[in-house]
Amino acid sequence: MADKIGKILYTQDDILKRAKEIAEEINRDYDGEEVILLCTLKGSLLWIGDVMKNLTVNTKLDFISASSYGASKTSSGVVKIKFDPEINMYNSNILVVEDIVDTGNTLKYVLAKLQERGPKSVKVCTMLNKESRRTTDLHADYVGFEIDDLFVIGYGLDFDQKYRNLPYISYLEEDDVESL
Ligand code: IMP
Ligand code: MG
Repeated sequence: MADKIGKILYTQDDILKRAKEIAEEINRDYDGEEVILLCTLKGSLLWIGDVMKNLTVNTKLDFISASSYGASKTSSGVVKIKFDPEINMYNSNILVVEDIVDTGNTLKYVLAKLQERGPKSVKVCTMLNKESRRTTDLHADYVGFEIDDLFVIGYGLDFDQKYRNLPYISYLEEDDVESL
């Protein structure tokens, strides 16, 4: 079991390099402006750290938790906001920092909720993007890596709340899930 979790899709170095490139893009795009980074719990914790330490624009940080997944690999389709950010978003630039966009269902709901707070702009920065799985018109503005239809774990991403601590991105196959 453990050796299978060792399959590496992206190493920590790959991720750090990409986070730096994306931070440079964000620095250019928001030059002279302030950005509220909204970390989606729990999966984005490591990725947001890598991006934000390379930002030179003024930032504020808050957290949001929304989910449509339980102990399963497929979305239940019903999105619940479990933790709402306290920060005032009125007339602010919001950058939602996400671990992975799959169907886009969760983020689409979250973005609609954020719009109710009257922000100046709302954009999305995701570590991973599964464009082929999209069932919504959700657009990610900054994408770390485009990936195939794989169930990925590690670097913040979980399966049934486990494996978030892996310092790389790995993936599970059907036989792995049966033996876990
Ligand atoms: P969506 O609503 O289908 O876009 O799913 C979004 C959320 O599902 C992500 O923020 C993750 O928390 C979770 N998720 C989607 N795909 C994966 C995966 O491959 N591994 C781990 N979590 C995933
Ligand atoms: Mg997420």
